[in-house]
Amino acid sequence: MDNRTNKLYNLNIDADGIALLTIDQKENPTNLFSNEFVKAFIEVCNEAVADENIKGIIVTSGRSMFMPGADLRELEKIGTDAEKQFNSMMEMHRAFREIEKAGKPLVAAINGTAMGGGLELCLVCHHRIVLNNSKIKLGFPESKVGLLPGGGGTVKAPYLLGMQNALMYLLQGKEVRPQQALKDGLVNDIAETQEELIEKAKAWILENPQAVQPWDNKKYRIPGGAFWTPNSVQTLIGAVGNVSKMTHGNYPAQSSILSVIHDGLQLPVDRAFEVEARYFTKLVTSKEAKNMIRTGFMGMQAARKGKARPKDEAPYEVKKLGILGAGMMGAGIAYVSAKAGMEVVLKDISVENAEKGKAYSQKLLDKAISRGRSTPEKAAALLDKIQATDDPKAMQDCDLVIEAVFEDPKLKDKVTKETEAVLSGDKIYASNTSTIPISLLAESSERPENFIGIHFFSPVDKMPLVEIIVGEKTSSKAIAAAIDYTVAIKKIPIVVNDSRGFFTSRCFGTYVNEGMFLLEEGVPAAMIENIARKKGMPVGPLAVHDEVTLTLSKHVIESNPAAKNAETERAYKIIIDLIGKGRTAKKDGAGFYDYPKGEKKKLWKGLAEMFNADINALDQETIAKRIMHRQALESFRCLDEGVLNSVVDGDIGSVLGWGFPIYTGGALSYIDYVGIQNFVADCDAYQQQYGNRWNVPTSLRALAEAGLSVHDFKREGSLVG
Ligand SMILES: NC(=O)c1ccc[n+]([C@@H]2O[C@H](COP(=O)([O-])OP(=O)(O)OC[C@H]3O[C@@H](n4cnc5c(N)ncnc54)[C@H](O)[C@@H]3O)[C@@H](O)[C@H]2O)c1
Repeated sequence: MDNRTNKLYNLNIDADGIALLTIDQKENPTNLFSNEFVKAFIEVCNEAVADENIKGIIVTSGRSMFMPGADLRELEKIGTDAEKQFNSMMEMHRAFREIEKAGKPLVAAINGTAMGGGLELCLVCHHRIVLNNSKIKLGFPESKVGLLPGGGGTVKAPYLLGMQNALMYLLQGKEVRPQQALKDGLVNDIAETQEELIEKAKAWILENPQAVQPWDNKKYRIPGGAFWTPNSVQTLIGAVGNVSKMTHGNYPAQSSILSVIHDGLQLPVDRAFEVEARYFTKLVTSKEAKNMIRTGFMGMQAARKGKARPKDEAPYEVKKLGILGAGMMGAGIAYVSAKAGMEVVLKDISVENAEKGKAYSQKLLDKAISRGRSTPEKAAALLDKIQATDDPKAMQDCDLVIEAVFEDPKLKDKVTKETEAVLSGDKIYASNTSTIPISLLAESSERPENFIGIHFFSPVDKMPLVEIIVGEKTSSKAIAAAIDYTVAIKKIPIVVNDSRGFFTSRCFGTYVNEGMFLLEEGVPAAMIENIARKKGMPVGPLAVHDEVTLTLSKHVIESNPAAKNAETERAYKIIIDLIGKGRTAKKDGAGFYDYPKGEKKKLWKGLAEMFNADINALDQETIAKRIMHRQALESFRCLDEGVLNSVVDGDIGSVLGWGFPIYTGGALSYIDYVGIQNFVADCDAYQQQYGNRWNVPTSLRALAEAGLSVHDFKREGSLVG
């Protein structure tokens, strides 16, 4: 066997007969576990195994990451031919097993992040040494995209980690750094430098000419005990309960992982791989995994890179950012922007107020330092970037100004004018308003083409979504600038055209309203809340309304008389009734729930009497559909009316904006998930029964009649990418 270089790897054989296989996928941005690579890996390993002059193989990476996972583009394209998929998985398993059982030592020299398929490749190796670099992550994130580790990871992890720890890794996609990986037994050794990593790998090969995997070693004992020990049985029973509580049966990956562990540990290991391949095949061909890969991975990755930006506009760099208002939102925006390296001018009505906003960054940094995620030096450098001021003129050299003062059109008018008096004419001005139309606010501006909405979510440092609102006169340069800024601060932008409530608040509003309407119709509150959560909503519609506050809903309805319709009027009456009874918000201790100090919240008993609760008011299926369909229908309207530019923006916005469950693919893909024709039929029936909020847009009906999907929706003339 000779040295070689090709588009997937480099192979160098040293004087001791040790083959260094450096994975370097030259045509990919990073190394990926793809069909083409696996085939090449198996071939080269087989050759090395067969060559008597080669004592062992070191597998390492020529890129900054070892291998961050499988090529999801490939997985997304897998059709529904389960048998073909299963056979190809088994072919891979058999080949990996031959390499493992050949006796020739393989060592993984993990010099970068190894996740999913990348980590499973390391598990084909008999020994794993990782570089001690805190940037390196190891883990099995497959369950996050609706899959299980299908390269042998689900079977092997319990052998190495023990049942309990393996469950944490597999079910939750736990990621660890090198030190923890060593402690948990995921790797066998750690090295301080790249040289030491390779030296240690060579030494291990020379000391272990006949390598055996733990699962092939009869004397090997699984940490924490084998499957049938009482400890393990109890752990598994507990996990079944937790999984069902966590997923409500909506995410098949988690229960499949449990099944593979349950069956796999009782079977000879080669049969266990067969079980793993069966379940993997079932998952990879499932709607849920396809949805999670499409929206949660592909869609978000593309959005994160600024896919929606108008292509012809030059990149817009924000070196200096101005923020008007150092309240809750302004303070958060200052932190994320300074963290991304921008100079920030944070302005409020007094320096004291502005400093208070800056202190929020200090608080977050102190927490990061206490958790070992930052250092006092880094924190000081970040704080140095934020200049607290009360002087409107301080905005003058800014590339972008984001306004986050009180939600008051008169005040916003004043600060817009004040800022434009000093801001250079080619710079961008954005408002973080949550309810006021951007085109209306832009009337205060002499340069409405530079005026745009950049709508953050609270808390800014945690919430990844940013809704970019395009006003009537907003230029494509301003859209590009807003997207470039959002990408620079590592958030995910979606572009939305101006309309009441934009996209997220408008559709989220239908969730909250439908919850109240069901309540008013006599459905017991607990049923509404439980069914919503069972469908995968993170918080019930009544509980989330308490968090938003009923007083805010009242204010929003009152301040938008133009948006009045039967639905808002009905919601308004219910809200007013509740407020009249002192039920206003979670922060006030009383809303749909009671919030006794130091105890868990409880639904307010008075609701049953107030709305004549009756357990038989409506069947569970209809309740579930009304809660979920209503959000999807409103999302489709946003698409139809041009508020949304694309299905994927709606899907991402719904998942990240208000927690619409990702297994459905998002609020628009949900329509396909339940079947577009069923969806339309349900909405038609509800329209008859419950009124016009259930009207089906003509374009949706046409898609259903043509047997198409929401993803086939097309509209001409969109401004964005
Ligand atoms: N709170 C949220 O969850 C949320 C989410 C998205 C958008 N928003 C929007 O963001 C904006 C700010 O909201 P917030 O929650 O941060 O409000 P906030 O009340 O916490 O802060 C507003 C700040 O603006 C300051 N201010 C008032 N007049 C000013 C002036 N002339 N110049 C500079 N600063 C001035 C106030 O002193 C205060 O510190 C609002 O438009 C709101 O609708 C809020």
